[in-house]
Amino acid sequence: GFSWKLNDHPKLPKGKTIAMVVLDGWGEAHANQYNCIHIAETPTMDSLKKGAPEKWRLVKAHGKAVGLPTDDDMGNSEVGHNALGAGRIFAQGAKLVDSALETGKIYDGEGFNYIKESFATGTLHLIGLLSDGGVHSRIDQLQLLLKGASVRGAKRIRVHILTDGRDCLDGSSVGFVETLENDLVKLREKGIDAQIASGGGRMYVTMDRYENDWEVVKRGWDAQVLGEAPHKFKNAVEAVKKLREIPNISDQYLPPFVIVDDSGKSVGPIVDGDAVVTMNFRADRMVMLASALEYEKFDKFDRVRYPKIRYAGMLQYDGELKLPSKYLVSPPEIDRTSGEYLVHNGVRTFACSETVKFGHVTFFWNGNRSGYFSDKMEEYVEIPSDSGITFNVQPKMKALEIAEKARDAILSRKWDQVRVNLPNSDMVGHTGDINATIVACKAADQAVKMILDAIEQVGGIYVVTADHGNAEDMVKRNKKGEPLLDKNGNIQILTSHTLEPVPVAIGGPGLAPGVRFRTDVPTGGLANVAATVMNLHGFEAPSDYETTLIEVVDK
Ligand code: 3PG
Ligand code: CO
Repeated sequence: GFSWKLNDHPKLPKGKTIAMVVLDGWGEAHANQYNCIHIAETPTMDSLKKGAPEKWRLVKAHGKAVGLPTDDDMGNSEVGHNALGAGRIFAQGAKLVDSALETGKIYDGEGFNYIKESFATGTLHLIGLLSDGGVHSRIDQLQLLLKGASVRGAKRIRVHILTDGRDCLDGSSVGFVETLENDLVKLREKGIDAQIASGGGRMYVTMDRYENDWEVVKRGWDAQVLGEAPHKFKNAVEAVKKLREIPNISDQYLPPFVIVDDSGKSVGPIVDGDAVVTMNFRADRMVMLASALEYEKFDKFDRVRYPKIRYAGMLQYDGELKLPSKYLVSPPEIDRTSGEYLVHNGVRTFACSETVKFGHVTFFWNGNRSGYFSDKMEEYVEIPSDSGITFNVQPKMKALEIAEKARDAILSRKWDQVRVNLPNSDMVGHTGDINATIVACKAADQAVKMILDAIEQVGGIYVVTADHGNAEDMVKRNKKGEPLLDKNGNIQILTSHTLEPVPVAIGGPGLAPGVRFRTDVPTGGLANVAATVMNLHGFEAPSDYETTLIEVVDK
């Protein structure tokens, strides 16, 4: 039968303190002027790299190696932390939705049949991120769903868009809205009353995460549900074009708007009897809205009106909370994660990040599970992030505070694993501000140093890695790798993640003398890290885990 008990590693001892450091958005790329990691002073990470090939190597952090549909899909934090923590590759939301749409199974499920009951008399609302980024959602999935719902009886459809520019180029929102408009025109020609009803930039409207700032969700609620927003337009393409003209406003930060009819009334508030689908497959930035839509009792902001609707998520966003209770596609079932195994085998774990990445190093790490496996054996500490700012204004973020917490946890000797996520290179990289991203990378490097110094003091081991690339390349490139220029001759800043591999470095005084990276796992990816860390804790990994990256040679 199944047992949580892990076998002892034949050569490696138990009881070493391990620092597990995840730099968010820290990939490896050619050294050039758009590589902020290269430009920044990063002496700590540079010195780790000198340990190659025995103590430093690269692993894949994108595409199929992390359960995404294709190798053209850049990595992201959800799939990256899932792979790091679970030690196996699971088909992720993007892929599961693709196949449910392709086979048509999505329309046979409980979730779709539930919302379908409203089609005869109510409106179908679709709310979500409108882009081809593939991190939270994809426009082609929305297009298929619109078609599928309309042939299955949806007669009145309203789409509430969130513009991106973070998982894709800034400015691309105009094209995505045009594409969607064209599809809606075609639906209207078939007699379906289909329109865009509201919108706003993802970082300012709706898509907050980890309860950093409920105002963001409230702005969305007002536009989507109440039909109220500071900006009113007759047409969504015009809305996005006009709002982009506001100084310093990019796709990510467009203010909320509603589309109004000739009499000035918003065309698509959500009312009793309607159906609502949140069309993002990724959880972190949808779960707050999901709770506002689903829970009768709710005190995070004044909803003013709480419509009686039939609501389904594209996926279920939180398996523990069963939120939302209805969903179109079942999420990946990520079980038996390394965190759960280690707790069962006596490994005491401390995890820490600041709010914007806190759930990454806990919820995503643990296979999309919230809370502790054992509250006696684990402690998770969240350092409040600055809210209401774009992180290029504070590129150091809370790196120092996270490192201090990790240092204290290491020095306390109360923990066997001290795990952190350092968000700087990712969060600042997403702003597209190159100078600020350079400062961010330096701050993350300094945080790593503080953690490694503490490991030195207790005779421990460190594992330093990243979840995907971002700051190592800040320019959009053509197929040949040359920077792309826009029509004014300016380079196109890349705010998104990349396809680059990420480093894994091991070391510290507690690392047994013969430990080194194997040379026979050249295609290793993030999922290989879990077995590696289990070995360093003195255990063999379960047999179905992706293989370890290390070997122990006699010295
Ligand atoms: C975001 O949600 O901020 C981006 O879409 C992806 O970033 P993350 O995967 O690093 O969180
Ligand atoms: Co990111």
